[in-house]
Amino acid sequence: MKGIILAGGNGTRLQPLTLVGSKQLAPVYDKPMVYYPLSVLMLTGIDDVLIIARPTELVLFRKLFGDGSRLGMRIDYAAQEEPRGVADAFLIGASHIAGEECALILGDNLFHGAKLPSMLRKTVRKLRGCVLFGHQVAEPQHFGVAEIDAKGRLVSIEEKPEQPRSNLAIPGLYFFDDTVTDIARGLRPSRRGELEITDVLRAYLAEGRADLVWLGRGVTWLDAGTHESLLDAGRFVRDIQHHQGISLGCVEEIAMYMGFIGAEACYRLGAEMDGSPYGQYVMRSALAHQLNPTPAELMEE
Ligand code: TTP
Repeated sequence: MKGIILAGGNGTRLQPLTLVGSKQLAPVYDKPMVYYPLSVLMLTGIDDVLIIARPTELVLFRKLFGDGSRLGMRIDYAAQEEPRGVADAFLIGASHIAGEECALILGDNLFHGAKLPSMLRKTVRKLRGCVLFGHQVAEPQHFGVAEIDAKGRLVSIEEKPEQPRSNLAIPGLYFFDDTVTDIARGLRPSRRGELEITDVLRAYLAEGRADLVWLGRGVTWLDAGTHESLLDAGRFVRDIQHHQGISLGCVEEIAMYMGFIGAEACYRLGAEMDGSPYGQYVMRSALAHQLNPTPAELMEE
C-alpha cells in the first residue's frame, strides 16, 4: 500500500505563523508536526510515501527526510500549486499510487492510542473499497460527519452540517483501493472550487464500497490547525511523553520497530541529535531494542 501526506494548504487560521512557513513543519512540542502523520502511515506498515506541499516549502520537507532511505523508506515529494482540495492529492499522486491501494493522511492530523497500530493494520488487511474513520466529538458541525445505522454501517456523509445526524466526525485519515484515482478524475470541483474528499467517499458509498471504522474511546485524534489546537496538541504530546517516558511520533524508533531499519542505524540517527532529549531518547530506544527486540510497548500504541 502507498501513502500520501497532504501537507499544503493556506494555513489561514494559523497566520502569521504560516505567512512564511509551513503549518505541517510547525513544532508540536518537540518535533515537526509532519512526524505525527508520517508515523501513522509507518505504523500501518507503509514504507513508500509521497509528501505533497506548497511549491516553496517542498525543499524544507526534503531537507528533513531526504529520499527516506535513512528511515528505510522511500519518500517522494510533489507540489500542489494551489490548494485545490484534499481529493486533488489523488491526481497529483496518481503516478505514485500507480494503481495500488493507498492511504491518505492530512499533514495536520495527530492520532494516538494503544490499539491504533493493530487496528490500522487489520483495517488494511480487510480493505474493500474505502475505509474512513469515525471519532466522537462534542461539536460535529465543524467537521465531516458520518451517519451510521443500528448495525454500525455507514449511511451518509455530510460536510459541516448545521444539523449533524451523529456526533461522529471523520478524521483526516482514509484508506482506498486501487480505483481511487479513477474516481478522483471523475470529480467536479465544488462551489468553493475544490475537489472534495467527501465527494470521493460518497462515490464509494453510492457503490456500497465504503466502510466506517469507529476509533473508539481509546484513540485520541487531534487536528492542529488553529492556534488553540496547536498548543493543545503540543501539551497533549508533552504530557504523555513526560508521564509515560515514551515518545509519540518518533519516526526513527518506529522505523526500527517496524523493521525498516536496524537498531544500529536507529542509534546512529539518534546520535546525530544527541544534544537534544529527542536524540537521546532515540539512542536509548535503540539500545533497549538490541537487548529486547520485542516491540510490545510501541506496537500496542
Ligand atoms: P485545512 O486545515 O482545511 O486547510 P488549511 O491547511 O489551508 O488551513 P486553513 O483552513 O486555516 O486555511 O486543510 C487540512 C489539511 O489538508 C492541511 O494539512 C492542509 C491540507 N490541504 C492541502 O494540502 N491542500 C488543499 O488543497 C487543502 C484543501 C488542504
